[in-house]
Amino acid sequence: MTQDELKQAVARAALDYVVEGRIIGVGTGSTANFFIDELGKIRDRIKGAVASSEATATRLRSHGITVFDLNDIDAMPVYIDGADEINHQGAMIKGGGGALTREKIVASVADRFVCIADGSKLVDVLGTFPLPVEVIPMAVQSVSKYLSAMGAMPVLRMKDGQPYMTDNACHIIDASGMRITEPAAMESKINDIPGVVSVGLFAIRGASVCLLGTSTGVRRLEF
Ligand code: 5RP
Repeated sequence: MTQDELKQAVARAALDYVVEGRIIGVGTGSTANFFIDELGKIRDRIKGAVASSEATATRLRSHGITVFDLNDIDAMPVYIDGADEINHQGAMIKGGGGALTREKIVASVADRFVCIADGSKLVDVLGTFPLPVEVIPMAVQSVSKYLSAMGAMPVLRMKDGQPYMTDNACHIIDASGMRITEPAAMESKINDIPGVVSVGLFAIRGASVCLLGTSTGVRRLEF
């Protein structure tokens, strides 16, 4: 099976976690996009969705799914999203697609986080994938110095020759070379650096469930 076929398989399996008549939180990225396409097929069975990015909102609307503002929502049973890496405890690195802050906000309102990923995303120790850190533009240099002092190699993410701009008009520093053995402690430490909007570590609140696409089928990990 190709990586896309594995992503499609977990996207389909995630429909089992959709609660009828409710609003669902939806992530960002290629796996989330496959999930949105599946969700479109059952759109009459949900009330609508909250999107973790402008791109996700556009795709949801293209399927006729009503997109709600998070400020109008009190509770959500489930948030479904991909990950760049996930460990055996359900801690994740996210933000490869640049939507980490909104993803963390929407996920924080949901009762359960269902991670959908192809099998290559499961790791013993987080950090092979460069850790995304969203920062206020004026803090790129100062935050980079903090990250270097922590042993990371920080690189400002670029797009079309310009610093990458998030939906929140901020930039992203990708911090490579980190071996993250204590993800929750690292999440707090980086979040505390002045100028950091949020770090793409989802460990203090990790996944509740991970649906992992493998060549022998969808594996379900519960945390
Ligand atoms: C976007 C994310 C994505 O969930 C992550 O990058 C995984 O993406 P994909 O499903 O394309 O592999 O965190 O900000």
